[in-house]
Amino acid sequence: MKLKLDAATLVTVGFILVMALTLFALLADPKAKGGMEAPRDATANSPLGNQQPVAPAVAPATAVARPTPSAPVTPLPPVAVTAPMAPPAPVAAPGVPGKGPGTIKPFLNPKAKLSEGHWKGLEALPLSMELKKKLKLPMDLEGLLIDEVTLNAAEAGLLAGDVLVAVNGKPVRTLEDLVVETRRVQMAKSASMLVYRKGKMQQFMLVAKNNLGFAQVETAPMILPGEIMPHPYRGPCTQCHAIGTTGHIVPDPDGIILPPPPIRTNAVSPHKDRGPCQACHIIIR
Ligand code: HEC
Ligand code: HEC
Repeated sequence: MKLKLDAATLVTVGFILVMALTLFALLADPKAKGGMEAPRDATANSPLGNQQPVAPAVAPATAVARPTPSAPVTPLPPVAVTAPMAPPAPVAAPGVPGKGPGTIKPFLNPKAKLSEGHWKGLEALPLSMELKKKLKLPMDLEGLLIDEVTLNAAEAGLLAGDVLVAVNGKPVRTLEDLVVETRRVQMAKSASMLVYRKGKMQQFMLVAKNNLGFAQVETAPMILPGEIMPHPYRGPCTQCHAIGTTGHIVPDPDGIILPPPPIRTNAVSPHKDRGPCQACHIIIR
């Protein structure tokens, strides 16, 4: 009984529903088609007539479609900005050391020791232990070794091999002293020179036509990183020499100069202290 009744009611209800849906469809269709057709025509036209006024109509449509993606896009630009910002610093840093990868930047020690002084035709060197031994000079002798004499210094009677002990009565133990003491007499026309020669102290008069001026000093010559030392070990090379990257005129044409091999950051030096590793080696990780 229940089943029969149910079936009958279901059929009637279903019929009513189908009718109602068809009616709805019939009423709604013309409106829906009219509304849909217009945009479809526009979109259909837009790909064909992009150049024409249709484009603006499409542009807003795409612009409207994008805003949602654009929201995530806008946060991205800052990220993109920070990304370029970060690289410049690292890029600038490697740019400074050398012209490119695998190049050693010329090394200059601003506190490099002075190695030579010049004043009115005399050339003077610091009187090191090495020189005292070589020249068999008293170990307690303090002064500057005169190693070259020309012009006024020669006229004064000075000789190469003399040790300059004092200028105008003031001791000159270093090249720095020589600068200071010659500055004192720079406007004078003459100054006394006390020198040690063959076991005795002797006095000479250095004379200038106008004025004496003051001493000019220099450091040891710039050398190449792999250059062979012509003198005994004197300490880290960079204490005296600037390390350059270009050759200079070396008297001996057989002096083969090979660049030191690249070394690792933690490499242990097999040689004596020559100065900061990066002055001569390319450091690889
Ligand atoms: C205390 C200072 C001092 C130290 C340290 C020193 N040198 Fe020198 N070097 C000199 C002086 C000064 C000269 C100039 C000639 C001389 O006095 O023998 C010179 C000359 C040279 C020359 C010849 C340059 C030229 O153009 O005539 C070379 C090459 C050289 N040194 C290499 C080295 C190397 C490599 C080291 C490190 C292992 C070193 N020197 C350490 C002071 C120093
Ligand atoms: C003034 C230049 C100079 C300086 C500074 C210098 N070296 Fe060297 N180094 C050389 C030269 C040149 C050689 C080649 C062999 C030689 O002459 O002893 C060399 C060789 C080496 C070698 C052997 C590499 C190989 O593959 O054979 C190592 C490792 C080394 N050096 C480490 C160092 C370390 C570590 C420092 C810093 C603490 C340093 N060096 C500083 C010039 C230098």
